[in-house]
Amino acid sequence: TDLQTIRVDRDPEGHDRVVLVTLNRPKALNALNTELMTELTHTLGELDADPAVGAIVITGSPRAFAAGADIKEMAEQTFADVYTGQWFGAWDTLAGVRTPLIAAVAGYALGGGCELAMMCDILLAADTAVFGQPEIKIGVIPGIGGSQRLTRAIGKAKAMDMCLTGRNMDVTEAERAGLVARIIPADELLEQALAVAATIAGMSKPVTMMAKEAVNRAFETTLAEGVRFERRLFYSTFAMADQREGMKAFVEKRPASFQHR
Ligand code: CAA
Repeated sequence: TDLQTIRVDRDPEGHDRVVLVTLNRPKALNALNTELMTELTHTLGELDADPAVGAIVITGSPRAFAAGADIKEMAEQTFADVYTGQWFGAWDTLAGVRTPLIAAVAGYALGGGCELAMMCDILLAADTAVFGQPEIKIGVIPGIGGSQRLTRAIGKAKAMDMCLTGRNMDVTEAERAGLVARIIPADELLEQALAVAATIAGMSKPVTMMAKEAVNRAFETTLAEGVRFERRLFYSTFAMADQREGMKAFVEKRPASFQHR
């Protein structure tokens, strides 16, 4: 396929069942224009449907993961344009991807860039990463879930601070606040992100999907309902050969070889 704004590498550096998706509008610091949104959401939809894909890494450049939605493209839009056109609506398909997604963030993750990183399941950040929701400074508010996902990730105090002042957060603060899973030296970011993806891709695919679904459920429901939901999924893992293989391999002191990969 003829992609203009992203690059897609299957089995990067020999990592079986891993796909690396690189945002590729370097001159615009990977600003998320309609073309990029369309290519990325369409590609991730396809990869999600492919049983040979066990985990996906999304990354940008050393300077910018993504500096937000494309302000030049948005500048001329009217209310009727964005409302009737469901501006940003395609991002909902990305939030619906069931395959584990890993964001490997270096440099700026601002506005839509921060929101894209937060739609991923594991956020790995280089020591150069900077996060922010600066929309207020251009007269708008976050539009791809930032006010919701940031608040759930780091709480009201810091989310309000960031959304109302538009200030940036460095990676240390972001990790301490719970936005970032791991801080990684910039020159090792990609290698480590691919290794994390390869680890996940070596597990049972349906079970990784269930784990993701169960954790995400915590954002949608009460504790009692969530625990009930988790228990049903836990029981259902016993319907698959991978549960028997995983436990048998442990008992026999050997690595598990999952069938549903
Ligand atoms: N949209 C369009 N173009 C962008 C952009 C964006 N969000 N961010 C950067 N660029 C472009 C710049 O216009 C510039 O292009 P030209 O060379 O053609 O002038 C190029 O990328 C390089 O950027 P800078 O020269 O500004 O680089 P810098 O190092 O001086 O500054 C920066 C970097 C602090 C990230 C600065 O570019 C910046 O503030 N960008 C905008 C950040 C922002 O406001 N993001 C939120 C967007 S709104 C949004 O995302 C809504 C939502 O919720 C989805």
